[in-house]
Amino acid sequence: MNEVAVLLKTPVDPNSPQSPLLEHYYSMSLSRCFRESKGKLGCQSCHDPHMQPATAEAPIYFRARCLRCHSEKDCTAPIEARQTQNPADACTNCHMPKQPVLTVSHSTLTNHRIVRTADEPLPDIAFKATLPGTGYIHVNALPGVKNEVAPVVLLQAYRRELIGSHLQFKDYYFNLLARLAKARAADPFVLSAFAQKALSDGDIDHAVSYARQITSQGSPMPNDYLLLDQVLAESGDLNGCIEALQKALTIAPYNNFVYQRLAMRQFQLGDLSAAEQTIRRGLELHPEDSALREMQDEATRQGLGH
Ligand code: HEC
Ligand code: HEC
Ligand code: HEC
Repeated sequence: MNEVAVLLKTPVDPNSPQSPLLEHYYSMSLSRCFRESKGKLGCQSCHDPHMQPATAEAPIYFRARCLRCHSEKDCTAPIEARQTQNPADACTNCHMPKQPVLTVSHSTLTNHRIVRTADEPLPDIAFKATLPGTGYIHVNALPGVKNEVAPVVLLQAYRRELIGSHLQFKDYYFNLLARLAKARAADPFVLSAFAQKALSDGDIDHAVSYARQITSQGSPMPNDYLLLDQVLAESGDLNGCIEALQKALTIAPYNNFVYQRLAMRQFQLGDLSAAEQTIRRGLELHPEDSALREMQDEATRQGLGH
């Protein structure tokens, strides 16, 4: 399994009342079991994806999992205290206690940060962004392995943060974008980010040139052609828009949004009969599309005026 998704997370805010224990992976990654077994501890060390023990059997089932790495003697707690557990010496009763879920009433989750004692403070790494200069913790980074995340993955992560209004990532996003621009990155996602930045800076020529680079690589994504259409419209090249949108339709012939945009451009060019034809084709596929219906009414009104 080489294609492991990269899990990124913002560091714990020590002042936040929200418990990080709710996230199993993150919690697990803060355990010495994880950090000191050099990546050997994963979900499957304890869970069998095909088999979940019944609640009553869980303590015995998981005890056997602990004993794959530990021996009974590793535990420094007095044996009497351990024997009073039900069932006897159930490691997880003491080391992985259940926690009430703050956000869901009458619900518990198991603390996946395996600790010696409940009052053990969080390790320092919980409070630090372990990917230097990124603002992120790389949650599923393997201990002892150099943490590296592809710039495009980071850029996508920042974009999601910004869409989610986490504006503290704005500088990270634009600084990374500037570094990628220097390196002349040619990844379609990066190029579309360049195009959008240029567009918002009012640098239409560059916006067009970035958007063209993506589509001339033969992008299979209709959104890339919609972006090209958008920047060409800004530059006043309506014929270019129509060409881009027609290309989009050869790739995504069922995308009603493309029909809407194409009809709109044909209207703008004053080509009423082409617009009507586009609307008709769009409505054949999407009779319920209200935007196309409104355009059809508009086309009829304008047609009568002639
Ligand atoms: C993949 C191997 C592995 C598994 C499985 C594992 N551990 Fe560990 N655990 C370690 C290593 C390595 C350490 C750190 C060095 C040591 O104490 O041996 C550790 C440390 C601990 C510590 C000390 C924690 C601290 O903060 O000082 C406790 C307690 C512990 N393990 C309990 C458990 C329990 C309970 C289970 C089963 C639910 C378990 N471990 C499963 C590898 C493992
Ligand atoms: C060291 C052993 C261990 C490891 C590693 C482990 N789990 Fe668990 N997990 C448990 C135990 C023990 C329970 C409680 C089971 C019970 O009481 O029925 C549990 C319960 C759960 C539950 C049920 C909800 C809850 O919190 O009680 C989920 C979901 C879960 N684990 C997900 C994961 C995921 C995801 C990973 C990997 C990131 C993982 N676990 C790794 C031991 C482990
Ligand atoms: C009654 C609760 C209880 C049970 C059951 C229990 N432990 Fe512990 N364990 C503790 C406590 C408390 C400590 C810390 C004791 C101390 O202060 O040295 C500890 C310490 C440890 C440590 C850290 C030892 C060190 O070097 O610091 C490990 C590892 C460990 N337990 C593993 C296990 C395993 C594996 C099991 C099951 C086979 C288990 N424990 C069962 C309560 C328990």
